[in-house]
Amino acid sequence: MSDHNGTNFLFRPTRTGAHGTIPPANERDRRRRWWDPIDIDQPNAARAHDFLLGGSHNGDADRRLARTVSDAYPGAVSLARANRAFLRHAVRHCVGNGITQLLELGAGLPTAGSVHEVAWTEDPSARVAYVDVEPVAVAYSRDLLGHTDQVTVTQADLRHPRAMLSSPGVADLLDFTRPVAVLLVGVLHFVSDSDQPAQILRTYRDALAPGSVLVVAQSSADYPEHPRLAEAIRAANSHYASTRTPGTLRSRAELIELLDGWELEPPGILDVARWERGRMHADPLGGYGAITRPLPAPVWAR
Ligand SMILES: C[S@@+](CC[C@H](N)C(=O)[O-])C[C@H]1O[C@@H](n2cnc3c(N)ncnc32)[C@H](O)[C@@H]1O
Repeated sequence: MSDHNGTNFLFRPTRTGAHGTIPPANERDRRRRWWDPIDIDQPNAARAHDFLLGGSHNGDADRRLARTVSDAYPGAVSLARANRAFLRHAVRHCVGNGITQLLELGAGLPTAGSVHEVAWTEDPSARVAYVDVEPVAVAYSRDLLGHTDQVTVTQADLRHPRAMLSSPGVADLLDFTRPVAVLLVGVLHFVSDSDQPAQILRTYRDALAPGSVLVVAQSSADYPEHPRLAEAIRAANSHYASTRTPGTLRSRAELIELLDGWELEPPGILDVARWERGRMHADPLGGYGAITRPLPAPVWAR
């Protein structure tokens, strides 16, 4: 989302000071249409994540949050990158196994190695529905993608699965009578226990055809053999507490419980740093990744 000079205008400085000047009133009014729904004075997880990944779609408040998180946990950038590497691995795995419909929930801002780019290297006919709750992530994704029949970007909340699944960007692109890969990477920790994440996952399971896949990466401080890592992750996570998306860390056991009704594909639940082939002994980074298949719902629950 750039103006004709290639400037990122959502985050172009507008106030008097070292970085810029107050724009004339009519320009302020023109911009207000863009700014109103987006409060860039509040740090936002999507945009802080973009900063950690080296992106430019972020404001001062987002950068402050990202730096505070990195100060508490210097591995934060590596964790963000490892999540993306795991996501790319999972996409190749799914599309390589014939699943050409993908639904990324909490997709974030566009970055190199996006799901559709990776999927198309395996099968150029693959379709990808991106969903995010954050308006800036959605606006930039739409702007970057331009027009393609195979990719949609929808602003929706994954905690309301029925509404999200029936939104045109999802329902018109994906055929839920055929297998779909649902990708929940780096977002489940923004779903608190009071949101009933197990129930949310059950709703997704019930919507999916046999042969579908659920890919999950969940932030965790459950590393008894690495107490300093665990402490740093807890400290970093505490900085999200005052944002609109506080983080919920989950232990490995809690993730297993959450995935009741889903069958783990080998090698099971691994730290995201270890998902790449040959990296089984890499130092953990603080997020568990799993690739799962829906088990049929028990008869009494149908
Ligand atoms: C840490 S980023 C992860 C981005 C990407 N999946 C990745 O792994 O690089 C988390 C994203 O989830 C989005 N998000 C948080 N809560 C959400 C919700 N309830 N529904 C949809 N998206 C959500 C945020 O806006 C943000 O873009």
